[in-house]
Amino acid sequence: NLAPLIDRFGRRIDYVRLSVTDRCDFRCVYCMSEEMQFLPRESILSLEEIGRVAQSFVELGVSKIRLTGGEPLVRRDLLDLVDFIGTLGLRDFAMTTNGSQLPRYAKDLSAAGLQRLNISLDSLHPEKFKRITRTGRLEQVIAGIDAARAAGFRGIKLNAVIMQGRNEDEILDLVDFALSKQLDISFIEEMPLGEVSDHRRGETFYSSDQVREVIETRYPLQPCTSQTPGPSRYFRLQLDSGLSQSRVGLISPHSHNFCGDCNRVRVTVEGRLLLCLGNEHSLDLRPLLRDHPQDNQPLKEAILAAMDLKPERHHFTNDGEVQVVRLMNMTGG
Ligand code: GTP
Ligand code: 5AD
Ligand code: SF4
Repeated sequence: NLAPLIDRFGRRIDYVRLSVTDRCDFRCVYCMSEEMQFLPRESILSLEEIGRVAQSFVELGVSKIRLTGGEPLVRRDLLDLVDFIGTLGLRDFAMTTNGSQLPRYAKDLSAAGLQRLNISLDSLHPEKFKRITRTGRLEQVIAGIDAARAAGFRGIKLNAVIMQGRNEDEILDLVDFALSKQLDISFIEEMPLGEVSDHRRGETFYSSDQVREVIETRYPLQPCTSQTPGPSRYFRLQLDSGLSQSRVGLISPHSHNFCGDCNRVRVTVEGRLLLCLGNEHSLDLRPLLRDHPQDNQPLKEAILAAMDLKPERHHFTNDGEVQVVRLMNMTGG
């Protein structure tokens, strides 16, 4: 028995983020260049191979899986994979999506056993939304959010990356939107992943402390009593009627390092096991999958051994310097 997964710093890894595609129908400025070269088909894992990776991690004690991308819902037949992972008995099964395809898929995803959704929403103004996502349509994402709310998920959270000069003036509107829809919302500091053309990261950086100050001009924040391990620090809003149902999360890779209780690893769609978002430490799982098509044991042993490669922390700075060449669409957030 190989479980559980524990790294050299005593951190228990029970959460895996699986990227199912590097493609996306949006081109968010902090994530992708306008012109993108996507991976050739033969280098990406099949849905069946991703299913084997998921099953292997579950057998190693992982109880939470999140599907990411790119945009997961642009991968053809993704529902087959969601169906399969839905049978693995996870404590938590989630997806991060840009929301554009949710009007079409929300109901089926929920029926297949997906429990929670994180939906990116950086602006409530159609033109600003378009300037940030380049190809996204706000209207479609709002329809996606409503479709998700109607589909019976256990939790839906909005994600907003706040950037000086792009959407820092919308923080309170985004909070009010989340309150009105009874959703949680996380505000994320931009991370320096990959070189993105015509977007100067150093100039757009906006800290979680600034976000917090803006929110507190309208709503006092109460730290949540139960904090989950991971990057987000959660708060409730003090309303006239009491504490809000909706939670506000602050994700601050720069200002509040959270690596000490990191509980997660990632697998890219090429089958690279990434031990940390902010480093290149990795192990290629693809040959193990392809050399042993019927047997997950070598894969599981390699995953267990790879835990020793997990670095203690990331070293992001906020001066725009790039430390990791891979872009977020290759990483899955
Ligand atoms: P839950 O904790 O499951 O709700 O999800 P999450 O908030 O981690 O997931 P989501 O995909 O919505 O990610 C939100 C933001 O947090 C993204 O910008 C991620 O890149 C960032 N993030 C998630 N995990 C890590 C991590 O280990 N390190 C860093 N630096 N950022 C992370
Ligand atoms: N910095 C911070 N967050 C990012 N995301 C994508 N790229 C970056 C970046 N460079 C966020 C998206 C989405 C999640 C998967 O990651 O907004 O919510
Ligand atoms: Fe697509 Fe998400 Fe990257 Fe935006 S952040 S381009 S929605 S993968």
